Amino acid sequence: MGVVLGIESSCDETAVALVDSERRIVAQRIASQDAEHAPYGGVVPEIAARAHAERLAPMIAAVLDDAGMTLDDCDAIAATAGPGLIGGVMVGLVSAKALAMASDTPLIAINHLEGHALSPRLADPALEFPYALLLVSGGHCQILRVDGVGQYRRLATTIDDALGEAFDKTAKILGLGFPGGPAVEQLARSGDPKAVPLPRPMVGSGEPHFSFAGLKSAVMRAHDTGKYTAPDIAASFQQAAIDCVTDRLRIALGGIDDIDTLVVAGGVAANASVRAALETLATGFRMRFTAPPPALCTDNAAMIAWAGIERLAAADFKPDPLDVSARPRWPL
Ligand code: KG4
Ligand code: ZN
Repeated sequence: MGVVLGIESSCDETAVALVDSERRIVAQRIASQDAEHAPYGGVVPEIAARAHAERLAPMIAAVLDDAGMTLDDCDAIAATAGPGLIGGVMVGLVSAKALAMASDTPLIAINHLEGHALSPRLADPALEFPYALLLVSGGHCQILRVDGVGQYRRLATTIDDALGEAFDKTAKILGLGFPGGPAVEQLARSGDPKAVPLPRPMVGSGEPHFSFAGLKSAVMRAHDTGKYTAPDIAASFQQAAIDCVTDRLRIALGGIDDIDTLVVAGGVAANASVRAALETLATGFRMRFTAPPPALCTDNAAMIAWAGIERLAAADFKPDPLDVSARPRWPL
């Protein structure tokens, strides 16, 4: 039995959570910065770092208070140490270091992508290693083999944009504001996915990599013709994106014969149409499919605390040194 305090500040969500080894999210708070960044149509790193710095300390106090706990009750403090916007990552990591030092509690520096990669195990106790993971967020689009904690092998990545980025850019073209993914999903519900002819980049390629830049440009051109409604463009874009993802996964899964579970994680995994398409794909491969609930797909600190729990439970666990650095780039 253990409890870990998790801190997430790598993008525009300031998040703090307490998670225990029984998979209970004991307490958590998330403060979104959408309102601060919306006027700029995207995340402004300097504004993000300042907002994290203002909010984090009171949020940590509030989460401990909600749980009726103190730092002395925590077995470790886990903080995102990258990849992400470096100012924000530094705010979270430095706070974690200060708390770890003051309370003599082990520090665990978590790779944000590892947080996403292990989040499905927080939600689904039956999910065992190994599994095939589609990790789709605002900054990343990858297919991974997850063989254990710290054992990740990348099978595919994007050669240009991430899938979440494609959703965000489509939202911008359609004037839907930021962040765009949920808005595109919502608008797509009332559109015809076959209305707008759009390309499916990389479909048919023998390597499972992704590309979304051409799709975004095609959305822009379709919009500029003035021939299509916004719901039809949103629905057609979403369908094209899903067709790309399922085709790429088909190639990747075709090359794996020792894994029986397909998992999706990251912000785009909150999308109901994406989830439904992946479930159908998994069934075709006679694989089990699992996805965390939407609130655990988008950035949160419970997944960071959970990654800390997983690291703590590993036989070779070692706390990270207090001089561990924040890393803007950090491949899994
Ligand atoms: O994992 P995440 O919260 O942050 C990163 O690590 O990037 O992912 C954010 C991305 C954004 O691009 C956002 O538009 C997208 O996930 N997203 C969605 C949905 N919810 C969030 N995309 C499609 N449909 C959604 N419902
Ligand atoms: Zn993320």
